Amino acid sequence: VVALPNIQPDRLQFIKTETPKAPPPSQSLMFGHTFTDHMLTIPWSSLEGWGVPKIEPYGPLSLEPSCTVLHYAQTIFEGMKAYRDEHGKVTLFRPDMNMKRMNTSAARIALPTFNGDAFLDLIKKLIHAERDWIPREPGHSLYIRPTMIGTQKFIGVAPPSEALLFVICSPVGPYYPDGFKPIALYGTTEYIRAAPGGTGAYKLGVNYAPGVMPQKQAAKMGYAQNLWLHGPEHYLTEVGTMNMFVVLKKNDGTIELVTPPLDGMILPGVTRDSVLALARGHASGSYKISDLPDKLVVSERPITMVEIQEAEASGALVELFGSGTAAVISPVNRIGYLGKDIHIPTGEDGMGPVSRPIWTELVGRQMGTIPSDWSVPV
Ligand code: COI
Repeated sequence: VVALPNIQPDRLQFIKTETPKAPPPSQSLMFGHTFTDHMLTIPWSSLEGWGVPKIEPYGPLSLEPSCTVLHYAQTIFEGMKAYRDEHGKVTLFRPDMNMKRMNTSAARIALPTFNGDAFLDLIKKLIHAERDWIPREPGHSLYIRPTMIGTQKFIGVAPPSEALLFVICSPVGPYYPDGFKPIALYGTTEYIRAAPGGTGAYKLGVNYAPGVMPQKQAAKMGYAQNLWLHGPEHYLTEVGTMNMFVVLKKNDGTIELVTPPLDGMILPGVTRDSVLALARGHASGSYKISDLPDKLVVSERPITMVEIQEAEASGALVELFGSGTAAVISPVNRIGYLGKDIHIPTGEDGMGPVSRPIWTELVGRQMGTIPSDWSVPV
């Protein structure tokens, strides 16, 4: 058996746009609305493997109405951010994690897998071409959206024999329209995002569309997003756009940072992993993060809404925040649950005693002001 070609960066064709746009001022950016001049496309077929990669002008794709993505949601995606420092140095944050996760998602939905290093090489070339689009203001970056779709012209349900991997780039500021302010969540007991054995742990397009209508309902009641719960116990899972962290104070003064375990229903977030690694490094004494409480324990464990309600009542609820590539660290000040609001303390800047030092360290590492091997040169 002859192995089909994997992704081949050395075959890249670069077709430069003839109508370059001027990047808009960063203050005017709304998340996900503005796209850069170019995109990367790489076709795949079961007969020929990965084809010629192209960086070409951003524009419409040509798809037949019969193609599988339009019928059975054969689509996966990733979210990554590129940063540019004052010297013009461009970096990505832990992009190896995105390459691995995208391959895991592809395998789950019977789309083709690929060589992550070769794909990343091409993504870096795209970012390099679009480097003038990377905003430099704090809290801003170039959001990179790798996506793969099934493109076979076929309306049977099967693994597609043709696919398209593509990457678009969008200069962004904060994900939520209110900027970096704390958000309110709605603990929905009516709908679920994921179930055991389902696809909640994979970054598939199909995990997102069903959340839009419940999100609209939550927004009508004054909540930004749904907090997805699991089982009759109402275990916290995630928000769809972010993983969740709860900070509790124990009787002996110990601070516990809790996040639900990766039980197959939660997306394994890169920011989630980074928050855990930083907090664990600090808790074990191997790496000190200034202002983070010393008596800190880090728990990946199930946590129910009742535990959060009880913590609120006893004063043990210190803070609650979400983490994500788009959302970074996003404090939560309120959760609507069973007809009542749980109120969560936030500091003057919106953050709390754990999220603030973690955010500072994380953003420092993302922007490259704190050197670490998580920051990868483009
Ligand atoms: C990200 O944080 O990058 C995500 O993919 C969430 C998205 C739905 C905006």
